[in-house]
Amino acid sequence: MILALKALIALGALPAAVLSLWPIPKSINAGTTFLTLSPQFSIDITFQSPPADLLSAVETAHYYLANDNLERLVVGRGAYDVQDVQSAKALSSLKLSLAEGAQVNSISAESVKAIGTRSEDYQLDIPADGSAATLTANSTLGLFRGMTTFSQFWYQYDDKVYMVSAPITIHDSPAYPFRGFMLDTARNYFPPADIIRTLDAMSWVKLNVFHWHVTDSQSFPLEVGEFPELAQKGAYSSSAVYTASDVQNITTYAASIGIDVMLEIDTPGHTTSIGASHPEYIACNQASPWSTYANEPPAGQLRFTDPAVVNFTTNLFSAVAKTLPSLMVSTGGDELNIQCYTDDAQTQAELTSSGLTLEEALSEFTQSTHGALIAEGKTPVVWEEMVLDHNVTLANDTIVMVWISSADAAAVADKGYRLVQGPSDYFYLDCGAGEWIGDTPEAMSWCDPFKSWQKAYTFDPLANLTDSQKPLVIGGEQLLWTEQSSPNNLDSIVWPRAAASAEVFWTGATGPSGAPLNVTEALPRLHDVRFRMEQRGVKAIVLQPLWCALRPNACDVNA
Ligand SMILES: *[C@@H]1O[C@H](CO)[C@@H](O)[C@H](O)[C@H]1NC(C)=O
Ligand SMILES: *[C@@H]1O[C@H](CO)[C@@H](O)[C@H](O)[C@H]1NC(C)=O
Ligand SMILES: *[C@@H]1O[C@H](CO)[C@@H](O)[C@H](O)[C@H]1NC(C)=O
Ligand SMILES: *[C@@H]1O[C@H](CO)[C@@H](O)[C@H](O)[C@H]1NC(C)=O
Ligand SMILES: *[C@@H]1O[C@H](CO)[C@@H](O)[C@H](O)[C@H]1NC(C)=O
Ligand SMILES: *[C@@H]1O[C@H](CO)[C@@H](O)[C@H](O)[C@H]1NC(C)=O
Ligand SMILES: *[C@@H]1O[C@H](CO)[C@@H](O)[C@H](O)[C@H]1NC(C)=O
Repeated sequence: MILALKALIALGALPAAVLSLWPIPKSINAGTTFLTLSPQFSIDITFQSPPADLLSAVETAHYYLANDNLERLVVGRGAYDVQDVQSAKALSSLKLSLAEGAQVNSISAESVKAIGTRSEDYQLDIPADGSAATLTANSTLGLFRGMTTFSQFWYQYDDKVYMVSAPITIHDSPAYPFRGFMLDTARNYFPPADIIRTLDAMSWVKLNVFHWHVTDSQSFPLEVGEFPELAQKGAYSSSAVYTASDVQNITTYAASIGIDVMLEIDTPGHTTSIGASHPEYIACNQASPWSTYANEPPAGQLRFTDPAVVNFTTNLFSAVAKTLPSLMVSTGGDELNIQCYTDDAQTQAELTSSGLTLEEALSEFTQSTHGALIAEGKTPVVWEEMVLDHNVTLANDTIVMVWISSADAAAVADKGYRLVQGPSDYFYLDCGAGEWIGDTPEAMSWCDPFKSWQKAYTFDPLANLTDSQKPLVIGGEQLLWTEQSSPNNLDSIVWPRAAASAEVFWTGATGPSGAPLNVTEALPRLHDVRFRMEQRGVKAIVLQPLWCALRPNACDVNA
């Protein structure tokens, strides 16, 4: 039986139960036996002194099992399974164990370890005879990932919670250590509750880095203890601020569900909002026409040639870094407009008196801000221009975010830096909604067309890289710039699309069958994860008519 199913998997026709998993595990064997969840079902921790966040994760898993209330995506929905469910054995426990030698740390501590040193692997066995299911991992974070997988198997009809594909054996571990999602909270503000809900959805598909692009030219919603004026003057309003306790709450909650929060304060460009409290620090502050001085309004960039600005920005990063559990902090560095500095008398005077070129001054500024981060034990992160367009001295462990184009990864790798894949031509979630600039009715978004989940899913993280460059790819992320997004469309513009890269970077180039990832095979599973998200209160958009969702592959082009 198992052998026959393995053959099915090899042909790409995954058994029914596997249709509920996202991301698909590295290795899985599945059967066709129904199991119900016993009303007395318990998740038992078999080791001493489990950390509080593991206990919460167990509680959350119980909550989802009891409340997902998802009917299986088959014609007839739950009613289709009634007979099989009636005769099914009941599963009464899932036992969590740590592998020999593993340390009992909190999930939170494991989640913010240095990239590449986290242990997310796990082994899950669900026997077909109702005897205890077992989950083993090398860390509490691995147990958390395994519980996430476990909870994806279960459907509900009437008062029965059941699965359709025991026995299950899964060995799983991520292909890439950095699996992110980026949210811009400066173009428009998102209350903490929206971020918390987004973090939950991220954890369901095993994303593990929340790249928080918190400030930009339009607003500075981040409260920084030593610099209260920045948010007081730079936020849209006193209620559109992330207070120190919000940040603490978000980073703490994220870590407890396996997510590292990588904060970005974009500098020296994208900083007009700092001019609200420190106009003397900003060159071409709201200069007109903005398009001469910036890629979008309002113009304004830090005067990094000014020693007071270097001092301020360095102290700002130092202050922020101290409040963050993550080892990664981004200083940004994209879209620096040179004309802004050419036309700025103060910048030109400072260059003349220092005898530095603009590039040399930029390098000194960057070394100072990065020095502050390094002094706090952090690893600096930058956008690709810092290595491709500028001559800036960076620590060799700096992480570089590729964003402009997938064609740029090779050039970044060529410089020897670790990189994260976030290319706009695959992963930008905001493309294709028309131009948002006020009076250009015919214009399209700069990164047209819309990037479908299929487009994102077909991204090959290692394309066009040499064998020696490939190890520099630490992962990737889908990104939402929010010029045209707010809490009203956050869920629908992000989900389920951002699950596409979650699978690309967890599962890697090939699925459990050994065949390359493939949208045909992925679609029924993505339907399932989307329906489950909806049951859990995330307003993910539908991918197809329900008719298609209930008939896997029946709407494929040649079906
Ligand atoms: C994708 O998978 C399907 C079904 O598993 C298979 O029929 C199809 O040939 C695959 N397509 C590609 C391009 O590999
Ligand atoms: C624990 O780590 C070892 C070494 O990396 C690995 O071989 C093993 O599969 C892991 N165990 C589990 C349960 O994931
Ligand atoms: C912190 O976040 C949790 C959600 O996880 C929420 O219940 C709580 O109210 C938040 N606390 C504050 C002070 O915002
Ligand atoms: C540097 O900034 C700190 C606070 O941000 C300020 O107290 C100090 O006076 C500044 N030093 C110089 C030399 O500007
Ligand atoms: C880049 O910077 C280095 C060190 O500051 C300098 O030696 C080199 O000439 C610069 N190269 C260019 C192209 O500006
Ligand atoms: C960075 O340089 C240090 C010192 O030269 C070296 O030990 C380390 O291996 C390098 N790290 C990377 C990621 O290249
Ligand atoms: C790889 O390079 C080819 C040819 O330059 C290009 O068409 C393709 O988009 C690149 N793919 C990725 C994922 O970078």
